[in-house]
This record gives sequence, C-alpha cells and structure tokens, in this order.
Amino acid sequence: MSVTILIGGQWGDEGKGKVIDLLADRVSMVVRSQGGNNAGHTVVVNGREHRFHLVPSGILNPATLCVIGHGVVVDPRAFLQELDLHHADGIATDNLVISERAHMVMPYHPVLDKLGEELRGDDRLGTTFRGIGPAYEDKVRRIGFRIGDLQKPAFLEKKLRFVLRLKNETLTRLYGAEPFDESAILDEYLGYAELIDPYIRDIYPIIQDALQRRRPILLEGAQGVMLDIDTGTYPYVTSSSPTAGGACTGSGIPPSRIDKTIGVFKAYTTRVGYGPFPTELVGELGDFIRETGGEYGTTTGRARRVGWYDAAVARYAVATNGIDSIVLTKVDVLDTLDRIRICTGYRSKGELWDHPMANISHLKHCDAIYEELPGWKASTRDCRSFDDLPPACQAYVQRVGELSGAEVDVVSVGPDREHTLVRSLPLAA
Ligand code: GDP
Ligand code: IMO
Ligand code: MG
Repeated sequence: MSVTILIGGQWGDEGKGKVIDLLADRVSMVVRSQGGNNAGHTVVVNGREHRFHLVPSGILNPATLCVIGHGVVVDPRAFLQELDLHHADGIATDNLVISERAHMVMPYHPVLDKLGEELRGDDRLGTTFRGIGPAYEDKVRRIGFRIGDLQKPAFLEKKLRFVLRLKNETLTRLYGAEPFDESAILDEYLGYAELIDPYIRDIYPIIQDALQRRRPILLEGAQGVMLDIDTGTYPYVTSSSPTAGGACTGSGIPPSRIDKTIGVFKAYTTRVGYGPFPTELVGELGDFIRETGGEYGTTTGRARRVGWYDAAVARYAVATNGIDSIVLTKVDVLDTLDRIRICTGYRSKGELWDHPMANISHLKHCDAIYEELPGWKASTRDCRSFDDLPPACQAYVQRVGELSGAEVDVVSVGPDREHTLVRSLPLAA
C-alpha cells in the first residue's frame, strides 16, 4: 500500500472525518494538508461523537502518526483548546506532529475576517470567521508567521513590529477598529510556544522516510472541490486548495507518488455560506432533509443549505482530481423519500452545460436538469453489506456512480463506524 488522497467532492461536510477514521488503522500516517480550523470533521465511535478541526481525524488510532502539514494554517489558541478537549475525552495526542513550515493564524486574522465580511455587505461570503482567508493572504504576501517562528523569539518580535504596522494601519484607518498591541501578542504567542513545542517537526524527513519504505499514507482533505480557490465557485470559496493537487503541495508528497484518490460525496448536497447552488431545495423538502441529516455546521452551528445530488459537480470533481473511488455518505437520510432526483447538467441562457460554469451569475440562475429515480422507502440503517440495501437504493447508488464517472466503493448509512458498507477497499493497494 502506498499513498492515497481523500478529498471532499462537493462543498464540504461530506463525511470525510468518518471515512478517514475508518481507514486510519490501515495506514501508518494521516496527513492534513490544507485549510485550518474552518474545518469540522466528525467521527462517531460507539455512539460517541468526536469533532476535529485541526487535529487529523486519524488520531483515534494510536498507532497512526498524524501530521499537520505545511499547507495548513494553524491557530495556536484554537489548536491548544482542541487538544484540551481531546485529552479530556481520553484521546492521546502523542502521535501528532505539526510541520514547522505551517503558517499561523494571528490574533488579527479573525478580526480582519469579520470586518472584511461586514465591508462586503450584501456580497459577503459567509466565512467561518476563523481568520483563514486573512492568514492565507499574509502567507502569499510573504508577511505570514510560521509555527517554527515560535522557536525564534527575537525574529518573531522583529517581524511582528513590521507586520503589525501594516495590520494596525488597516484596522484603524480602513475599519476604524482598535489596533493590536505588539507586546500582548508576543506574550500570548510565546506562551503558546512552550506548549506547542513538543509537536513541532521538520516533516520532510518523516514523509520521505515513509515514502521510501512504501508505508501507506492517507492524505486528509478539508473542505471540498467546489470550495477550492481555483476550481470552486469563486469568490464563494475558501482560501486554500482542497483538491488532490493541494494535498500534494500541502504535504510535500509529489504527484507521481499518488496511487489513489478517493472522493467523498454526500448522497445529496449541502453548502454552508453564500454562493451559487444549482440543486438547492428551499421549502419543506429541504427542511426535511436538513433535519433528518442533522445538517448544522460542526464548526459554526449554522444551518446548512440542502439540495439534490449534483452529478455535474461530481463529474467535474472526479475529472479535475482524478478521483478513482467514490465514498457515498448519508444514503440513510433519503430512506423515506418517494422520489429522488439527480442533477445531470444545467440549462443556462439557452445553452446546455455538463459541468459547473465559471460564470457564477450564470450558475446561480441556471436551471438544473434532473433525472428522477424511485425512492426505496425502507430503512438502510441496519444494512451491513451492499447486497442488504433495498434494490431501489442499490439502483440509486449505481446511477450516482455512472453519472459521476467513478465507482462507488463505499456506502455509508449512518454516522458510526459500523454503518459502513465496503464493496471494495478504496485505499491504494
Ligand atoms: P466532514 O467535514 O466532511 O468531515 O463532515 P462533517 O463531520 O462536517 O459532517 C458530516 C456529518 O454527517 C457528521 O455529523 C457525521 O457524523 C454525519 N455522518 C457521516 N456519515 C453519515 C451517514 O452515512 N449517515 C448519517 N446519517 N450521518 C452521517
Ligand atoms: P469541512 O472540512 C463546509 C465555507 C464557509 C464559507 C467559505 C469560506 O468541515 O468540510 P472560510 O472561513 O474558509 O474563509 O469560509 O467556505 N467552509 C466550509 N464549508 N465545510 C467546511 O470544512 C468548510 N470550511 C469552510 O462556510 O462558505
Ligand atoms: Mg465538516
């Protein structure tokens, strides 16, 4: 076994955490490679829910090394709070390391995130207010701070003096907000330094060693393909690359070493925040799916927007990421529906489209074209193999695979580990 990438194929919250946890005991390493604590990955074990934001979802397996790669932006305060919660739950984190190259979310980033959203007014994006966009902006602008900087107090102080001038200028002049105090930030972050120090590593030799020994590695994506800064519904996206390409750059694993790419898709679609959503269901049916699926954000608690499965989105995600294997989650949420729709493409200004168009205004106003399938009207919760599923459900899963362009290898019918029907193990052989 070698390197497998796992990404979300839609707008996030596809159930990636559950699948990572499930596969973690078969790999030697799980690597998060992008995003930050905007992510919320839920793992349920024996009815007990664990939520991960920065810590990789493989942590419940003590034999698996969990790596926070350099493509992730780490808020040290949020990271330490998350560790406390996990430790209180009896989860050990001895098997966790953070790349010294990972950038940090600084205290001014969430403030600038919020102020930026307010400034946009009606055009706001609906961010998580975790400062993720501003942290990646600073990384690209080359005024970011990296985790390794916590180990260099003099450098941190000198750089902060320069960067804070820029930040305070923006805060006070553009937004009329309070400036940040240099020594308060320094004190706070140097306090974190001591606590985070045991986790900080140069991950290059760790990853190279695993690659050389052909140890199985699983790359954990956050967010989803449609939230990608390049391929997503820009500007209603996140500020990183939740794609297979992003998994490589964010971990330092070369594309030539990737053996398999798994796409996790929900059996319907959800989206948190604003932006086009061609298959969105507003009204009773949408409310019903939201309540049945418990579609409220793991990170912010916001109600998720809900819609039918969009195979045009899925085909696009499969094609642009080389997805070989689909994991279809939350099939049980559709158990009681009479008829179920799958979007196969769009009609926009008299033209037919088989993939999401770049023009988000067109995507917002297009008509989704649907294929309709009969519901199975039976509970799938106790099914333990694909053959146990009602025939109409099997037909739905089959059709999802055909229209999306990849095999559905795993079907999930509930949040717990046991609610998982594996037709073929999706990991690299
Ligand atoms: P992630 O961000 O992709 O890891 O997904 P989230 O954890 O944010 O959201 C997925 C939610 O669905 C979580 O509450 C999971 O416990 C839950 N879940 C995952 N798979 C299934 C499933 O097959 N059926 C049901 N009913 N819930 C599921
Ligand atoms: P996981 O990993 C769903 C969305 C936000 C917003 C947009 C930009 O749990 O699937 P940001 O704070 O990133 O600048 O917000 O991206 N978003 C997510 N939606 N799941 C996530 O993560 C998300 N992370 C960010 O709601 O629309
Ligand atoms: Mg989530």
